[in-house]
Amino acid sequence: MADDSIRLRPLAEDDWDAVVALEERAYAASGLSEGREVLRSRGSVSPSTCFVLEHEGEFGGYLLALPYPRGECPELTLTEASRFESENLHAHDFVITEELRARGLSPHFVRQIEQEARSQGFDRISMVAVQRSHVLWRRLGFDTHAEVTLPESYGTDAVYMSKAL
Ligand SMILES: CC(C)(COP(=O)(O)OP(=O)(O)OC[C@H]1O[C@@H](n2cnc3c(N)ncnc32)[C@H](O)[C@@H]1OP(=O)(O)O)[C@@H](O)C(=O)NCCC(=O)NCCS
Repeated sequence: MADDSIRLRPLAEDDWDAVVALEERAYAASGLSEGREVLRSRGSVSPSTCFVLEHEGEFGGYLLALPYPRGECPELTLTEASRFESENLHAHDFVITEELRARGLSPHFVRQIEQEARSQGFDRISMVAVQRSHVLWRRLGFDTHAEVTLPESYGTDAVYMSKAL
C-alpha cells in the first residue's frame, strides 16, 4: 500500500452528513457518540485542523482535531465554546470507514496528519484512546499518560496519550 492512494482534504459543509453517520455507527454501541451539534462545534472552532480521509478519491473517514491544552480534552457531552491557543493538537476523533478498517491504512493516515500538524506549527499531538485502540496508538509512537484524569463521559477504559512531533 502506497501513501499516494490516501490523502487528507479539508472537511467541507457537504461532508457533515457522512461524518455524523459514521460517528454514530462507530460509537453509539459504546455510549460515546457525541451527536451532530457537538461534533460540528468541534469543527467550527478549528476548521483548519479537521479533515476528510480520502482513499482512492473516496470518503474513507475523518479526523476532528483542535488545539487543546496538554493534559486536557473535550467533555463529550458539551459543545466547544471557543478555540484554545496551544501548540498541542488534540486529535479528538479519528474514524476510518468500516470497509477500510483492518487493512493497515491507519499508519499512513496518521503519518499525513503528523506532517500536516507540523506544517501548521504544532509540536505535539494528543488523543484519548477509546475502544481498546491504545494498542494501535502505542505502536504508532504515542505514550500513555495514566496520570491524566478523564471526564466520566469517556467511560472506564479510555486513556490519554500523546506524541511529540
Ligand atoms: C481505530 C481505527 C481508526 C483503526 O483503523 P484500522 O484501519 O482498523 O487500523 P489498522 O488496519 O491500521 O490496524 C492496525 C492494528 O491495530 C489494531 N487495532 C485497530 N483498532 C483497534 C482497536 N480498537 N482495538 C485493538 N486493536 C486495534 C488492529 O488489530 C491492527 O493490528 P494487526 O495489524 O496486528 O492486526 C478504526 O478501527 C476505527 O475507525 N474504529 C472506530 C473508531 C475508533 O475507535 N477510533 C479510535 C478513537 S481513539
